[in-house]
Amino acid sequence: MMRRLLPTRRVSGTIKVPGDKSIAHRAAILSLLSESPITVRNFPDGADCRRSLDAVEKCGVQVKQRHDELVLNPPEELSVEPDTIIDCGNSGTTARLMAGLIAGSELSVILSGDESLSARPMKRIVDPLTEMGGRLYDTDGHLPLKVNGTRLLPFEYVMPVASAQVKSALILAGLASGCSVKVREKTLTRDHTEIMLQELGQGISVKKVTPVLVDDVHDPRKKRLKMPEDFRSEIRVGAGSRVKGGLVDIPGDISTAAFFFAAAALLGGSVTVENVGLNRTRTAFLEYLKNVGCDVAVTNRQTITGEPRGTVTVTGGDLKARRISGATTVELIDEIPVVAVLASKTRGTTLIRNAAELKVKESDRLRAISENLTAMSVKCGLLEDGLAIEGREELQGADLSSFGDHRIAMAFSVAALAASGPSSLDDDSSVAVSCPGFYDLLSAVVG
Ligand code: S3P
Repeated sequence: MMRRLLPTRRVSGTIKVPGDKSIAHRAAILSLLSESPITVRNFPDGADCRRSLDAVEKCGVQVKQRHDELVLNPPEELSVEPDTIIDCGNSGTTARLMAGLIAGSELSVILSGDESLSARPMKRIVDPLTEMGGRLYDTDGHLPLKVNGTRLLPFEYVMPVASAQVKSALILAGLASGCSVKVREKTLTRDHTEIMLQELGQGISVKKVTPVLVDDVHDPRKKRLKMPEDFRSEIRVGAGSRVKGGLVDIPGDISTAAFFFAAAALLGGSVTVENVGLNRTRTAFLEYLKNVGCDVAVTNRQTITGEPRGTVTVTGGDLKARRISGATTVELIDEIPVVAVLASKTRGTTLIRNAAELKVKESDRLRAISENLTAMSVKCGLLEDGLAIEGREELQGADLSSFGDHRIAMAFSVAALAASGPSSLDDDSSVAVSCPGFYDLLSAVVG
């Protein structure tokens, strides 16, 4: 549906956002391998996570709502009709994690997706899974992907792309097949799979490598930071590792909360989000907000079922541009659309580099951001691996496009709040992928 978006002067309020999408996918998909039920609190209502529930239901998991919890009951034995098609919709996490798990199981399925998902690269999982002995047949590197489960071989892998989905697919393949897997990442990506397996399973270990202080060989009076290894994290799944089951309590999704924090930052207001996830691999946006000049306060910190969370209040300030590159880009991967919107109102020029991955998300996000910012009269250069955005005093109201991408729709709905006149968004339906109640939540903090 087309949506008219009006500017506002004031943003303030306290809200809760739906449960973390990444954690929810993992809880749903792990239920396939679990020895006893997995009970999930705060499972989000978005379409993406529903795809993962539908996928595991097709393979025999019983999904039951019990009060405000979801109980995922694994079957005695997994089974599907031969050549069953699992439609992953718009969800890359469903497709890639399911492909890994199925590759190491006794099941055979065809994974398909909508137009956007069918354009996203699958070789990044097909290649390593095939090296493990998996039998996967893609369509020119894309979905539909036929996966014939089989016994896999022990495997060691150094990640060539920073991707939590690829890492998780390999871990799940090892678990499903009962073979050992060792994955090393040079850049840290979100670690919800590892946390959940340490909470619900047995036989999984993680080594995180942090820099150490050493003598500077060029100047004995100085010390410098050195990485003792050439990787940041190593995940080992031992042969015969198990998923025993138990409770997963999902905090609010910080990547969804980011849009409301950005509204506060853009308009100089203050927004509080309660029970929001604070996993260290996901909080780079809060650091970014501090660096550009916002005040970020965290209270009620606690860790439940392995995932940290708290109440976060962001208060806008005088925004100044900050460069984003390297590991920071990876940590901000889902927040770059809303970072770009903030950059359009910061003092100075924001350079976003090492962000080529954004071209293969739910849309080509670099192009989507640049076209929408240009429509709002912002000077925005499209680089090979990023964007150069010149901040300005005022954004102009414009006809904006969602490109069928939930994060583009939400980021530019927030941008429109700070425009000088009304804007319109061609189609707001994609917000249902991660936050169906997005516009109600936005109304709760606006005006
Ligand atoms: C996700 C990992 C990221 C992220 C996506 C969710 C996950 O994708 O962008 O929204 O849940 O593992 P990549 O693994 O492709 O970087």
